[in-house]
Amino acid sequence: MADTFTALVAEQADGRTAVKRTSLEESALPPGDVTIDIAYSSLNYKDGLALTGRGKVIRKWPMVPGIDLAGRVRSSTTQRFRPGDPVLVTGYGLGVNAWGGFSQRARVKDSTVLRIPEGLDPRSAMAIGTAGFTAAMSVVALEERGLTPGDGPVLVTGASGGVGGTAVAILGQRGHEVWAATGKEDEIPRLRELGATGFLTRDEMTVEGKPLESARWAGAVDAVGAATIPYVLRTLRPGATVAASGNASGPKLDATVLPFILRGVAMLGMDSVLVPIERRRRIWDRLATDLRPRSVGANVTELTLDTLEEGLDAIVAGEARGRWVVRIA
Ligand SMILES: NC(=O)c1ccc[n+]([C@@H]2O[C@H](COP(=O)([O-])OP(=O)(O)OC[C@H]3O[C@@H](n4cnc5c(N)ncnc54)[C@H](OP(=O)(O)O)[C@@H]3O)[C@@H](O)[C@H]2O)c1
Repeated sequence: MADTFTALVAEQADGRTAVKRTSLEESALPPGDVTIDIAYSSLNYKDGLALTGRGKVIRKWPMVPGIDLAGRVRSSTTQRFRPGDPVLVTGYGLGVNAWGGFSQRARVKDSTVLRIPEGLDPRSAMAIGTAGFTAAMSVVALEERGLTPGDGPVLVTGASGGVGGTAVAILGQRGHEVWAATGKEDEIPRLRELGATGFLTRDEMTVEGKPLESARWAGAVDAVGAATIPYVLRTLRPGATVAASGNASGPKLDATVLPFILRGVAMLGMDSVLVPIERRRRIWDRLATDLRPRSVGANVTELTLDTLEEGLDAIVAGEARGRWVVRIA
């Protein structure tokens, strides 16, 4: 009997994206050094855009979508990995211009593969996923620029979402005073449990304001973009930094240069896709240890390739609450 496996395949016809569950043979896999039996993937905002066709995310058609994957090595042509090793791959164009994680099997270059650090497994690694990795990158970036616990309040926008919720958890456990901005009042108890001690409503953040306002924040993590960055910039303390990774509310930046030139604030861009593998490895190792979010495994909704759609509409509508993992095996 042929050795087949199941994958989602996205195709484009008449400008619309159609996704179907397909049975494929090993020969369909792309060239690469490491073949992986995928156990879990995760659902990220970018997957929502890709699969609903709302953003021009997928660059090559047909495409096996899914920007994250974790599982065990099935076979490897390099010495670095052996069958059975627990591994993960995120970024590097997975699910965008390279075979992604919504598949029972993948084949990738060994230079993109990380061994899952001790203390995590394929499910918990995907409960972190690209969103959690980006949150960790953001916290690392702020701390590399000098933010230390005790400096003052650190603002996290889009706090109920994947990047935001994980950033709240990481900052909270590292002893920072975390303020969570959320559009979902009923998420406040969960965010308090994760480590937030102060809260802002979405309305407080999205009103128009003066170019400079009372300087409140010692640092900020933002994955929301257009709706929140103007407020963040005009309320950062002198010398403070915002780590900006997302555009969940849109990509436009409607702000002035005054916070930069009169308060010396900084806006650091976070790109999780092209992080060099050694830095990526260090951040994942820390995600298993001193940056491990208190929330790992909590508030995770489990989907399968058959139920993926349930999460897609919610994620593009800004209704995300916590993280989604996708059980593949
Ligand atoms: N640069 C990178 O490498 C990278 C990596 C990962 C993600 N991202 C980007 O980061 C963004 C967030 O990703 P995610 O996985 O955290 O998404 P998510 O789980 O869907 O969370 C986004 C959150 O943003 C808030 N939000 C959504 N629409 C909003 C609006 N119109 N105004 C104000 N707030 C709004 C909501 O939180 P509240 O209701 O709590 O306010 C929502 O839950 C996306 O744009 C994604 O593409 C970038």
